[in-house]
Amino acid sequence: MVIKCASLYIILAIILVLVSADVVSQTFTPEMVNLISDQMQRSNLYADDDFTRFFVVGDFGDLDNLSGVDNMTNIMSELASEKPFHFVTTVGDNFYPKGIETMDDLQNANKVMSYFQKPDIKDIKIYPTLGNHDCYSDYTNEVKFSEFKSQWRMESDYYELKEPLKDDPSKYVVILMSNSCLLMCWSINEADQKAHKTCNKMNTEVGSQRVKEHYFWLEHKLQTYSTDPNAVWVGVAMHHPVLKEVPLKNDLLPLLQKYKVDFALVGHTHIYEYSNFGYDESLRYPNEAKGPVLDDCGADIEIYNTANIEHYFKKGEMFHQILVGTSGTELDKICPYHDQDGEVYFQSIDGHGLVTIEANSQDLRISYYKDKDIPFFSIEITV
Ligand SMILES: *[C@@H]1O[C@H](CO)[C@@H](O)[C@H](O)[C@H]1NC(C)=O
Ligand SMILES: *[C@@H]1O[C@H](CO)[C@@H](O)[C@H](O)[C@H]1NC(C)=O
Repeated sequence: MVIKCASLYIILAIILVLVSADVVSQTFTPEMVNLISDQMQRSNLYADDDFTRFFVVGDFGDLDNLSGVDNMTNIMSELASEKPFHFVTTVGDNFYPKGIETMDDLQNANKVMSYFQKPDIKDIKIYPTLGNHDCYSDYTNEVKFSEFKSQWRMESDYYELKEPLKDDPSKYVVILMSNSCLLMCWSINEADQKAHKTCNKMNTEVGSQRVKEHYFWLEHKLQTYSTDPNAVWVGVAMHHPVLKEVPLKNDLLPLLQKYKVDFALVGHTHIYEYSNFGYDESLRYPNEAKGPVLDDCGADIEIYNTANIEHYFKKGEMFHQILVGTSGTELDKICPYHDQDGEVYFQSIDGHGLVTIEANSQDLRISYYKDKDIPFFSIEITV
């Protein structure tokens, strides 16, 4: 760190010498020197910061009303002006109503992306996953979009994101960026016409080779990382909530339990929610998305089933589901409140926002933001 600070000052000194010697006065204006020195001061401020940090956003690119994504990216920009953020992950429904329908018309996608061009976030890469709306047209278009927007980094419809941890770069956080348009369609009861329709609409054939390949890939990755001591944090990011969707509860959740996956980042329901599930726990509602109505809904903006807004866990205790379907589109209702699988700590529809995740080799901090000030709910998991 000392070396880093010293080298920054040396660079600054060189620039100042060059400027005063008039050698590069053509290329370095005083404004630019100020800017560079600004950025240096900022990186000095950050020198002590040892977290790998990223945003999670879901259900945002709603062309009918972009005021939500505008508000959300304002929060993002404010937070990024205070601390370094390394990337953004999306949990799908990137572009409503039907993803990118044709590569001949990128106007809508470009319009949504323009909100991510605000100061302090314009250089942060976005790693997307696909939601049902993205799958309503040819979803490989969102992969192709990476060739047109350098900020958009989608190498395939599912892929691995492996980020070194800042306090110990030999270790990393791994996020398996999954395509739940496929994962929802492994095996479905023949009688369940609705589920078949859902898969058809998402351009996925139930039980098809592509679906199987995705599951095999996922299990192979989970197996690999569950025995890799350097993979400190292992999670999945995908659109549909694992603890809510019947196909995912039955087909995917057992894998996440078996390999003791730390977290799932999800969207789809347009609410904020935190819930968790034990690695040995059994499903209460294997055949239905929701259980009984538990609340008379005196509060229809926020429902808390806990007295605290900060919770602490040890790694390996349970699986954590972070739901953030509130980054732009119209919000759902949380009332009536239905019990669901896993333990739900809270649900909220109080405005558009995002989740931040801060990871180092000891800690994983997950914070929910509906404005830039302080998180309204957070959990911390320690090794
Ligand atoms: C967008 O949604 C907000 C909040 O619901 C509303 O106040 C605003 O009028 C909407 N704008 C448009 C153009 O519909
Ligand atoms: C965005 O924020 C403004 C100002 O707080 C608010 O009036 C507007 O309704 C918000 N937009 C949405 C879609 O909630």
